[in-house]
Amino acid sequence: MTSQETFDLYERCVIPNYPRLPVVIVRARGSQMWDVEGKRYLDLFPGWGCSLLGHCHPRVVEAIREQATRLIHVDNMFYTEEQGRLAELLYEHGFGGRSFFCNSGAEANEAAIKLARRHTARGRYKIVTMERGFHGRTYAAMSATAQSKTHAGNEPLLPGFVYVPFNDVDAAAAAATDETAAILVEPIQGEGGVNIPDDDYLPRLRELCDENGILLILDEVQTGCGRTGKWFGYQHTPIEPDIMTLAKALGGGAPIGAMVARPDVAASLTPGSHASTFGANPLVVAGATAMLETIESENLLEAVPRTSADILEKARGLQHRFGFIEEVRGRGLMIAIELTLPGAGIVSAALERGLRINCTQETVLRLLPAMTISTQEVDEAFDILASAIQEAESEPVTT
Ligand SMILES: Cc1ncc(COP(=O)(O)O)c(C=O)c1O
Repeated sequence: MTSQETFDLYERCVIPNYPRLPVVIVRARGSQMWDVEGKRYLDLFPGWGCSLLGHCHPRVVEAIREQATRLIHVDNMFYTEEQGRLAELLYEHGFGGRSFFCNSGAEANEAAIKLARRHTARGRYKIVTMERGFHGRTYAAMSATAQSKTHAGNEPLLPGFVYVPFNDVDAAAAAATDETAAILVEPIQGEGGVNIPDDDYLPRLRELCDENGILLILDEVQTGCGRTGKWFGYQHTPIEPDIMTLAKALGGGAPIGAMVARPDVAASLTPGSHASTFGANPLVVAGATAMLETIESENLLEAVPRTSADILEKARGLQHRFGFIEEVRGRGLMIAIELTLPGAGIVSAALERGLRINCTQETVLRLLPAMTISTQEVDEAFDILASAIQEAESEPVTT
């Protein structure tokens, strides 16, 4: 099939809820992808943040291939050694929490919201969340997402969510009442624009929670599993959460989510109180276990600050050249180039030249590169990006 034939097929048969890029991908490896006509793309946003080891990492591929020959799916009425072992990895790399597995970030957040309400009971049902946060598209996760563009057309929302500005502990304190079950926050806001809070933000939220019997839920769907250079984003601070949610990078590209909870909190999710049929299916567990073991055995966390510094330096180089780049910021492999004009034109111009990046919040170019990206690939990507930005400078884009 040609690209056009695939576009036509989608036009007829696929619901148009995604603003898709006009490219049909047939294969990918590491930080590179190829389309159906054989054109190569460098990918600085692999799998929307899911392919942190790069596309089709050989160890992930092998683990899934091997698992598929033995047991693809078995339901959660049975034990599997593999699910227990994956939970153990999260227990060891995190805060000694127990895991519930599901299929996505939204589903992990649904579980966290249910657990928080069940655990704190006694009339506590409200959840404080942050403006510009993003927690997913299902009803509770969407209601937790304090962005009107995500709500539009879907009202009425689930009640009980209270929104306050990000990085503002006083606002969170003012919103917390004896009806508050939890505070839900991303350690670094991803979709909201790669917003990095002050160093004392999470520690002060932790104190607020401890003083008021409120649970602290960290949405680490985007920051987790090594993205920021630590196993989890909260590990850049001295605190631990009560509940943490994961997805995206966890599966090495396979669809898996997890909610990890402090053991005494986890105990409130009693048998029959929550479930997910596909949760921790052996196939995706194989991908997730291979992903975490690869990071560990190949010391990939150690390389993150170097790669990050290299990308930030090149992005700052662009900032010196182009006046409409307002700010460059990032932590680990979560990087933003904030513009004073809409970035959609730059994303398209980059794609035409063979580079995939993302733009969020209209003016923030977002890069979520793989841990395995090479220096040469970073160099090439920034040459392409510079030329795409050059084009935008000569033809400013309007929305
Ligand atoms: C921080 C955060 N939480 C939750 C989600 C939702 O994850 P999913 O799309 O897997 O449901 C996302 C997705 O971008 C996210 O970035």
